[in-house]
Amino acid sequence: MNKKVLVVNRLEKEALDELQQEADTNVFIGDASLENPEFLEALQDAEGITGLGLPVNKELLQAAPQLKIVSNVSVGHNNLDLEEMTKRGVMATNTPDVLNDTVADLAFSLILATSRRIPEMDQYVKTGKWQEDLPAELYGWDVHHKTLGIIGMGRIGEEIAHRAHHGFHMDILYHTRSKKPAAEEKFGATYCSLDDLLQKADFVVLMIPLTPSTKGMIGEREFSLMKETSIFINVSRGQNVVEEDLIAALQNGEIRAAGLDVFDPEPVVQDNPLLNMHNVVVTPHVGSSTYATELKMSKLAVKNLLIGLRGEKPGELLNEEVWER
Ligand code: DGY
Repeated sequence: MNKKVLVVNRLEKEALDELQQEADTNVFIGDASLENPEFLEALQDAEGITGLGLPVNKELLQAAPQLKIVSNVSVGHNNLDLEEMTKRGVMATNTPDVLNDTVADLAFSLILATSRRIPEMDQYVKTGKWQEDLPAELYGWDVHHKTLGIIGMGRIGEEIAHRAHHGFHMDILYHTRSKKPAAEEKFGATYCSLDDLLQKADFVVLMIPLTPSTKGMIGEREFSLMKETSIFINVSRGQNVVEEDLIAALQNGEIRAAGLDVFDPEPVVQDNPLLNMHNVVVTPHVGSSTYATELKMSKLAVKNLLIGLRGEKPGELLNEEVWER
């Protein structure tokens, strides 16, 4: 008998087709909630779950007694209570690496869009304001040869540094849990304390996972350390930032601009003051959202899921302890 699998919120069609050849699937897009009686019922005999952003906590695990593996279609896994999953012998996997370049591209798009004021320029032309030379108060700011501060020099951070160093002649500062000699060698990156980075960088890019210790890591104190001319970019998770402090920093001119792909909460609420600021460029959490990369992530998630369901160890296992038990 085929294994029962729930697909929640996101899985590209080609990957879903592959999965359906090996498992009985039940797809919940946007309604995978414990409040939904159909989802609750489907959890009863589900052995695997794959998809995006499903909160897998004690309550859900109690409702899914047969569950063996949850395979995230994302590198971030702040939706998973790993401790609780490990206690119950449920494997957790994610989709690292296949998205590194794509997320780095988006981070760079936001760096360029904020500094060269691309959305403002776009509107300037489209609304017929381009009748004479651009007034000087609408000029942008250079990216090349400036200093980029990367908080979180993981695999995506390194790809951002690569673009900055090799493409834009930027100086790289980084702050991360442990020093990265390879990044220092490849991109001339300099390790520094968080405060030093905030004080010196022209662009501050936040690229860290969301964990209990990173939640709210960038707030009033951190914004006050940044240069008044600095531009803040967040492509990690909205909750790593105290959003009201970011709003205040922008309103008070403590920083120049922000490029944001992530918010707290998501989707962003329409009356969020960030959406009315001309110096804020926003995207709807699309760091990995290209056709090619989403497909790679979905396929990797299905691969992990099927390996786990066969009782073997998936390559991207997040809770090794489950395997060691
Ligand atoms: C990730 O993979 O974590 C992206 O942010 C998509 O959620």
